[in-house]
Amino acid sequence: MKPDVLMTRPAATDLAGALTRSFTVHKLWEAEDPATFLREIGPRIRGVATDGGAGASAGLMDAMPNLEIVAVNGVGVDAVDLDHARRRGIVVANTPDVLTEDVADMALLLLLAAAREAVLGDAHVRSGAWEREGNRPLSRRVHGKRAGILGLGRIGRAVARRLEALKVQVAYHNRRPIESAYDYHADPVSLARAVDFLIVTAAGGAGSRKLVDRDVIDALGPDGILVNVARGSVVDQAALVEALREGRLAAAGLDVFEDEPRVPEALRNLPNVVLQPHQGSATVDAREAMADLVVRNLEAHFAGRLMPTGVDLG
Ligand code: DGY
Repeated sequence: MKPDVLMTRPAATDLAGALTRSFTVHKLWEAEDPATFLREIGPRIRGVATDGGAGASAGLMDAMPNLEIVAVNGVGVDAVDLDHARRRGIVVANTPDVLTEDVADMALLLLLAAAREAVLGDAHVRSGAWEREGNRPLSRRVHGKRAGILGLGRIGRAVARRLEALKVQVAYHNRRPIESAYDYHADPVSLARAVDFLIVTAAGGAGSRKLVDRDVIDALGPDGILVNVARGSVVDQAALVEALREGRLAAAGLDVFEDEPRVPEALRNLPNVVLQPHQGSATVDAREAMADLVVRNLEAHFAGRLMPTGVDLG
């Protein structure tokens, strides 16, 4: 008999179809009353397929007394209650590697777009302002400047490789220095002070909450650009809006926000931000590879094999 798996949210690819090869799939988002639905099917469910945003709370896991595995369709597991999973002996898997280059592309895109004011330039042409008012003001160069990577993991390194091609000098901050040719800064303020651009690629969660606060933003300064492709929780969003509005920070490129998909009007109205609706891994290529990995993690678990990309719960 196929194990029962609960999907929390629809995926952009046909993850549900792929899962039905090996599993009986239950779709939480199609339930009229999710609580009643979970009460009815909860005891049958042995696996959850979820995404980085929905994750799996302790409450959700506890609606499924026989749950064995949470497979995340994403690299970030900050929305999964990992302590609770560990306590209950539930294993967790995610989808690293297959999305790394796409998220790094997004970081580069946001940096270039923010520095070169690409969105304002696009609007200038579309609106006819170019013809009416003439050229736009000059923008900022990226080539040859200095960038700080906040969180030099897989994605941070992929961003750094791209920046090297632009002759951008890279430094980084992690909780601890790692084997790397880049300069290490022991705290984010010191890193921000030393660079022109700060790129956030740190994992979300309690350990990185509001790591980029007012002090870090002020250290980056009025010519600085902040890019965030990690999690909105890593940046103090209110402090960021204030700094951008007051000209204490030049610009920002943001793919992630504090309370997605809600983005405050104050941020949406700023001209010096480039905004994306959490699209880092949202290419057909990455999402198909991610869905495939979700299925393979679940299949491996239920076949008693090592999961390709299990998360170490300590
Ligand atoms: C990820 O992979 O964690 C993406 O941000 C989607 O949540």
